[in-house]
Amino acid sequence: MMDDIFEEEINRRRIFKDTLILSPHYVPEELPHREMEIRDITRSVAPALRNEKPSNTFIYGKTGTGKTCVVRYVIRKLEEFANNPEKNPHGIIVKTVYMNCKVRDTKYKVLLKILEDKKLNHPDLKNTPLSDRPQKSLKGMDPGDLYDRLYNVVNSNEINLMLVLDEIDMVKKGFDDLMYILTRINDELEYGNVSILGLTNDMKTLRRMDPRSRSTLCQEERVFKPYNAVQLKTILKQRIDNGFQEGVVDTGVVSLIAAFAAQDGDARYALKLLRKAGEITRDVGDEKILKKHVDEAKDAVENDIIAEAISTLPEHQQLVIYSIAALTSRGGMYKRLSGLGGGDLFTGEVYETYEKYCKLLNRKARTIRQFSEYLNELEMLGLITMRMSGKGTRGTTRFIRLGYSPDEIKSILRKSLGLEDLEMKTPS
Ligand SMILES: Nc1ncnc2c1ncn2[C@@H]1O[C@H](COP(=O)(O)OP(=O)(O)OP(=O)(O)O)[C@@H](O)[C@H]1O
Ligand SMILES: [Mg+2]
Repeated sequence: MMDDIFEEEINRRRIFKDTLILSPHYVPEELPHREMEIRDITRSVAPALRNEKPSNTFIYGKTGTGKTCVVRYVIRKLEEFANNPEKNPHGIIVKTVYMNCKVRDTKYKVLLKILEDKKLNHPDLKNTPLSDRPQKSLKGMDPGDLYDRLYNVVNSNEINLMLVLDEIDMVKKGFDDLMYILTRINDELEYGNVSILGLTNDMKTLRRMDPRSRSTLCQEERVFKPYNAVQLKTILKQRIDNGFQEGVVDTGVVSLIAAFAAQDGDARYALKLLRKAGEITRDVGDEKILKKHVDEAKDAVENDIIAEAISTLPEHQQLVIYSIAALTSRGGMYKRLSGLGGGDLFTGEVYETYEKYCKLLNRKARTIRQFSEYLNELEMLGLITMRMSGKGTRGTTRFIRLGYSPDEIKSILRKSLGLEDLEMKTPS
């Protein structure tokens, strides 16, 4: 019996050769169509290998244009070069610390990440930040102390320290302070230097920046252009050869996926679509990817993207969108008053429902003003649409409409908000 079920499983048409190659974390050995960007960034960081401070560089480009993979690639090569005694006979010390600011969203957290990083605490170094901290943590220490530790380790070892701050727009607290600290440290250091590579896909970051921070961070600027369909095809093909069994992905399918993804020039989307189409093909037991599988994959990937956007929202925005979803599935006041269909909701009723959910979860509801901000942000993310009402019985108000299935949104959030156990008490 056992043999038979495995027999069947094994004999099922194999679609993938190596799924790892299609995973979002895989960085290929070559990055086609980014040769120029790689060269530019290599040139920006190379002075570190001569003990000179590289310029701080700000890198901007829309999502999926290869910023993260290109920068990670270059700093990996930089470290390999520096760690090779034949290539670096004078033993110049280069250390790179990469972080994503989505999880390091304050000046303090950024500094902690730098100082607690293994590379700055290597036993070969003097005056390492954690040397007098048996619990290997610097939490709770004041920022001045952190600054001194950074200064000491860089200065006493003559380190060329390169910080990669990915998604730098996510640093909400103390960004200008952080830029100031990093400028000042270079002025004060006798030996070594600290330089920054800042990455973002949010162009507003630059406009919002204090002019002083801007001139610190943007000594050089690089823009990553969206990929066109032809470029996306090369990127896809590179993964198909090693990721899929032969004959599973026809050229027509590659062109189709590249054409979809070329609307935003987004390689991540292209790769997601490819992998999902492969999974669908495998699950239905077909031999090769067909157009209909790509179409289906497109819906699935879009849903995943929305789910991801919702599940990474801050808690109060999640509460607001949850309230909107709950009201939408129940049918809001407008529907009841007007007897018309449609999912329009009054701002007021959404706020009331939000307040009730806050109470249910023992959270303090934010003010109406902050609530309005949340609505604007949800609209910018494309999760809701808003329109002004005409003059009516209730004066002018904003109507809110959910962009996606309310049930889906509720099921994504029920768990993360901890509403599962409280379901019975759900406010009406
Ligand atoms: N030139 C390329 N060759 C091969 N793969 C690439 C290339 N550019 C991007 N990719 C792949 O596409 C995906 C997205 O790239 P990456 O994460 O670098 O984008 P990004 O610009 O940092 O996007 P975001 O702004 O959303 O962070 C990754 O899986 C990456 O490996
Ligand atoms: Mg990135």
